[in-house]
Amino acid sequence: MADSFTLNTGVKIPSVGLGTWQSEPGQVKDAVAHALKSGYKHIDAAFAYGNEAEVGEALKEAFAAGVKREDIFVTSKCWLTYLRKPEACLDESLQKLGLDYVDLYLMHWPVPMNPNGNHPMIPKHPDGSRDLDTEWSHIDAWKAIEKLPATGKAKAIGVSNYSKKFLEELLPHCSIVPAANQIENHPYLPQQEIVDFCTSKGILIEAYSPLGSTGSPMFNEEGVQEVAKKHNVGPGTVLISYQVSKGHVVLPKSVTPSRIEENMKVLKLSSDEMESLEKIHKTKGVTRFVYPPFGVKLGFPDKD
Ligand SMILES: NC(=O)c1ccc[n+]([C@@H]2O[C@H](COP(=O)([O-])OP(=O)(O)OC[C@H]3O[C@@H](n4cnc5c(N)ncnc54)[C@H](OP(=O)(O)O)[C@@H]3O)[C@@H](O)[C@H]2O)c1
Repeated sequence: MADSFTLNTGVKIPSVGLGTWQSEPGQVKDAVAHALKSGYKHIDAAFAYGNEAEVGEALKEAFAAGVKREDIFVTSKCWLTYLRKPEACLDESLQKLGLDYVDLYLMHWPVPMNPNGNHPMIPKHPDGSRDLDTEWSHIDAWKAIEKLPATGKAKAIGVSNYSKKFLEELLPHCSIVPAANQIENHPYLPQQEIVDFCTSKGILIEAYSPLGSTGSPMFNEEGVQEVAKKHNVGPGTVLISYQVSKGHVVLPKSVTPSRIEENMKVLKLSSDEMESLEKIHKTKGVTRFVYPPFGVKLGFPDKD
C-alpha cells in the first residue's frame, strides 16, 4: 500500500497522518511524541485546535533526539477570523509549533468571519448568529493565502471543507491550484462528487474523521467488522486502509498509545472488500459527524 502520495507541487505527503483535534492539553504532546517514535511522519494540526504549542513541544523533543525536520510533514490551518491576514495566523502557528515553515497550510473552512467581532475565534451577533465577514469572500481569502508560499513559511497551500460548488467558484480565480482538500470521509460519507471533482483537478483528498470521530458507531458497523474479522485486525485498520486504497491521505486521531500504533497499519483490501465498504452508506444512509458551526450553506449535497 502507498506510504505516500504526491501533491501537485511534486512533494510527497505521507499517506497516514496523526490527527490532533480534540486531543486535550496534557495528552497531545505525549500522543505526538508517541506517534513520532512509532514511525509517523505526518502530523495534522490547526490554529483552531488550541494545542499547537504542545504539538510543538513534542516536535522539538523529537528533533533534539535526531528526527530531521525535513522528514516530518506538518500541516496547519488558517482560522476564519484571520482570512484577511492569513500570514498573521500562520506566524502564530509557526511560533507555537516552533517551526520555520509548515509543509501544508489549509484554509480551514471557506467561511470568513469578522476579524473585529466580539470573540477572536467565533464572533457572534447580539442575536447569537455567527458574525461572518460578508465583505471578504473565500476567493479573497484564497488570494491572500496564495501569497504564503513565496514567504517560505508554507511549502504548499490547500483548502478544507470545500464542496464541488465552492471549488468551481474558486478555481477560475486561482493562480495556485490548491494542493489538497481536507474533507470528512468514511464509509458513511464517501462524498463521491467532491472526491471525483478533486481527482480530476489533481487536488489530493485528505480524509478527516476517517473513524467517524469521537463515539463513532462505525466501529460496530457489521460491514466493517466483517472485513476486520477476515484480516484479524480491528475495525480502525479497515477504515484507515479503505482511505489509502482510495488514494486518500488519512488522518486518524488518537491519544491512546496502542491505537496510535494500530492506526499506522494499512492493509491491501480486495476489490470485493472495497465494494462492500462502498455499499454501506447505500443501506445505512449518509451520516456526517462534523457540522460547520456557521449556519451557512456550503454546497455539500447531503447537508444543505
Ligand atoms: N479540516 C477540518 O475541518 C477537520 C475536522 C475534523 C477533523 N479534522 C482532522 O482529522 C483528524 C481526525 O478526525 P477526528 O478527530 O474527528 O476523529 P477520528 O480520527 O475519526 O476518530 C477519533 C476517535 O476515535 C478513537 N480511536 C482512534 N483510533 C482508534 C482505534 N484504532 N480503535 C478504536 N477507537 C479509536 C479516538 O479515541 P482516543 O483518542 O481516545 O484513542 C477518538 O475518540 C482530527 O484530529 C483533525 O486533525 C479536520
